This record gives sequence, structure tokens and C-alpha cells, in this order.
Amino acid sequence: MTPFEHFNGTKHDAGMRRPYVLTVASHKGGTGRTTVALALAWIWGQLGRRVLLADADPNRSAALIAADDAGACRWPGVDFMEGMPALDRLPPPADVIVVDCPALTETGAYDVLRHTDGLVLTCLADTLCLRTLPTSTTAIRESVAVNPRLRLLGLVINLFDGADPAQVRLVNRIHKAGKPPLIGLPIPVQNAVRDWPLNPGSGFPGGTARAACLELAFSLQQELRLGSTKSAGRF
Ligand SMILES: Nc1ncnc2c1ncn2[C@@H]1O[C@H](COP(=O)(O)OP(=O)(O)O)[C@@H](O)[C@H]1O
Ligand SMILES: [Mg+2]
Repeated sequence: MTPFEHFNGTKHDAGMRRPYVLTVASHKGGTGRTTVALALAWIWGQLGRRVLLADADPNRSAALIAADDAGACRWPGVDFMEGMPALDRLPPPADVIVVDCPALTETGAYDVLRHTDGLVLTCLADTLCLRTLPTSTTAIRESVAVNPRLRLLGLVINLFDGADPAQVRLVNRIHKAGKPPLIGLPIPVQNAVRDWPLNPGSGFPGGTARAACLELAFSLQQELRLGSTKSAGRF
């Protein structure tokens, strides 16, 4: 049996609560969705939650960071699997499943969205990225028709440069428009995060991006019904 086999339904623990499925998605690559999915999984694991990190994007970039050189994810509280767990059959023993989704313009995203409870979209603070965001609405609308639980929780801005007035103005506009709402603070661009893949299996690097992701994790906690967690003092 592989270490992940029980997430695909070969073991049954009757009465187990279905974990909340939080999907991090975007309409295009390079918006930082893998990084946000990894950051949330790592943070909730650190805070004492049982997390299943599902790498559902066929490019498998999450695996290149979450798994060490031996191919194992050793983050506290976090199990890792490639693909999606078989939620129709059996719930995995986790409080939350964090999914790194394929781009919403790809058909593979539908498989993820039909199991998703809450959807977070990552976006860059640039006009083109923002204007192309509606290309993801078809996938979301069609998925809600088959999965009425699906809720778009909001937008997360990643790779943010607070020294660029154009980005600041754009984020303020998005915030004012509120559709979809901004969640947490924009995640700043940080070299240590860019270089994270150089150290496979290591934890989310400390710094301003981690502080913003921690804020995001706390903002989402109520929606996820995760309740209070271990002290965040270590951050
Ligand atoms: N906050 C950040 N600061 C610096 N680099 C980042 C940050 N977030 C993501 N990156 C880098 O930006 C690139 C795109 O991020 P990634 O998470 O892979 O996006 P996606 O999954 O949307 O394609 C990657 O090289 C990643 O390491
Ligand atoms: Mg990715």
C-alpha cells in the first residue's frame, strides 16, 4: 500500500466528518496559486490542524516544494497526495483539504470544483490579470450547477509590490469594488519565497509574505469552521 492509498478510499472510518475542501485556483499560470496553497497547508499544519494537501494541477509543481528529495512531505500535520482524493467514496482523515487546482480554463479544474466547498482565486495586481479574471467564471458557474456547496470566497493578490503606485491604486480599486472581495492582505513579492523550490521539503520561508499568508489563513479559519488553533506566537 502506498502512503496515500487510504486517501483514495481503501480504509473506512465510519462517522468521520467530511473535511472542508478549500481550493486555490486562478484563470492563468504565474499568479502564485501553488505558493498560496502550499503556504496555507504549511501554516494550518503548524497550527495543529490535520491537513491534506492535494496537488491536482497536472504540472505537479506543489510536489516539487512540499516533498523532500526522498519524495516525502514531512511538514507537521500535513499529508500530501497527487491528484484529488476520492471524496465521493470516503472522507480522508483531515480537517481541511487544500487543493492546488489546475487553471480554471482547463477541463481538469471541473473535477476539483465539483468537490470544492470554498474557492480562493489568486491574481496579480496588474490590469491584464484583473481583466482576464472573468474567463474563469464559466468554470465556476457550471460547477455551482453540479455542486451547490461551492462558494467563491474571494480574491488573493500575490506577488504584490507595494512600492509601485500603480499596483497600490489597483488593489485599492479592487478592494472598493468588493466583487469578488479581497481576502487578507496582498502578499508581497519576496525573494525567499521565489527561491523556496531550491529547498524541497522545507517550510514556508519567514518574512513579509509569510505574515500576509498567516493573515489569510486566519481570515479563512472561520469559514472553514476550524475554530481556535494552537498559538500563532511562533510566527
Ligand atoms: N510572494 C512571492 N514572492 C516571490 N515569488 C513568488 C511569490 N509567490 C509566488 N512566487 C513565485 O512566482 C512564480 C509563480 O508562482 P506559482 O505559485 O508557481 O504560481 P502558479 O501556481 O499560479 O503558476 C513561482 O516562481 C513562485 O516561486
Ligand atoms: Mg501552479
